[in-house]
Amino acid sequence: MAIKIHIDTDILEKIGKFELPPTLGFGEVSGPIMASAEFKNGEWSDLSIIPFGPISLYPTAKVFHYAQEIFEGLKAYNYNDNGPLLFRTNENYKRFVRSSERLAMPPIPQELFEKAIESVVSYSYPIMPKRAGESLYLRPLLIATDNIMSVRPSLEYRFFVLTSPSGDYFSSATIGVLIEREQSRAFPGGIGFAKTGGNYAASLMAYKKAKELGLSQTLWLDALEHKYIEELSGMNFFAIINGELHTPELNDTILEGVTRDSLLKLANHNGIKVVERKMAIDDLLRDIKNNHCTEAFACGTAAVVTPLTFLQDANGDRYEFQNQNAPIGMMLKSKLLDIQEGRSSDPFGWTRKVQGASLQ
Ligand code: COI
Repeated sequence: MAIKIHIDTDILEKIGKFELPPTLGFGEVSGPIMASAEFKNGEWSDLSIIPFGPISLYPTAKVFHYAQEIFEGLKAYNYNDNGPLLFRTNENYKRFVRSSERLAMPPIPQELFEKAIESVVSYSYPIMPKRAGESLYLRPLLIATDNIMSVRPSLEYRFFVLTSPSGDYFSSATIGVLIEREQSRAFPGGIGFAKTGGNYAASLMAYKKAKELGLSQTLWLDALEHKYIEELSGMNFFAIINGELHTPELNDTILEGVTRDSLLKLANHNGIKVVERKMAIDDLLRDIKNNHCTEAFACGTAAVVTPLTFLQDANGDRYEFQNQNAPIGMMLKSKLLDIQEGRSSDPFGWTRKVQGASLQ
């Protein structure tokens, strides 16, 4: 069944009045419009494109108490007016459905998910950043809204796609990372593989600890043995060891990143050997010390590829990478951005162009 879309009459005026600030951080600027739909009485509503603004919910809404919510992160690109280009939205949709299943939420129809993204991008076309490395960050979000305080899946939900013209996630080009050996982000059988707020909430105390030590991120280890590397708080982890690209193999405590998968495919395509395996932290630290491991980087939609300068233990012991600007990671980053920003051919068929509403 075709999705019906209601366009609020204020949308064009909101877009017309919006001014892109000269510098963009990550997620600091909210775009002026959003997509919205509701799930009620077992059915999804039509899609509405409305002004971005406060929403009205009861304080008893389940999302506030039992954290029944999921989200996604993806970007639309308009480098040099090459766009608007969307990248692998199908992968974000599949992960959204996996997350919704784990959180006992109704799966959203793919057409509703994709139309919501396409519509906000299409209307936001005139205000999309055009400089390399900048994009319109998109945040699909599904929250539980029924106002009954018993602990059970909500009967009602609201879906949004929010926008944020964004630049770099980190304010520095490279980051120092704290190895978290005490707390855990995710447990086998838990929600680690789902993109849900609880996983990020679990990471915040460690973020504070890292910041107090002058570091930018946390490297999480497995919860059972505190031995194997899992991921960073909002990014996957990669290391170059003896010229090969190593990353922790996926399990139910690691978020399956779309950027992670894209880099693995790009590395393969460029003749770099890829190894997905259980990575023991102590083996990696030994490999850094003896220069077998020459570089490491974080990757994600928001972070793209960000080199690690060093890993550090809470006692101050530091393990510095020989190649702190991660040349192999940066080569993969530029190949990825060339595809995403429409500068090179797209042998994988990852991108698709959206018609700007102002051009229709
Ligand atoms: C993303 O990369 O899109 C995320 O959702 C992670 C978060 C650090 C913003």
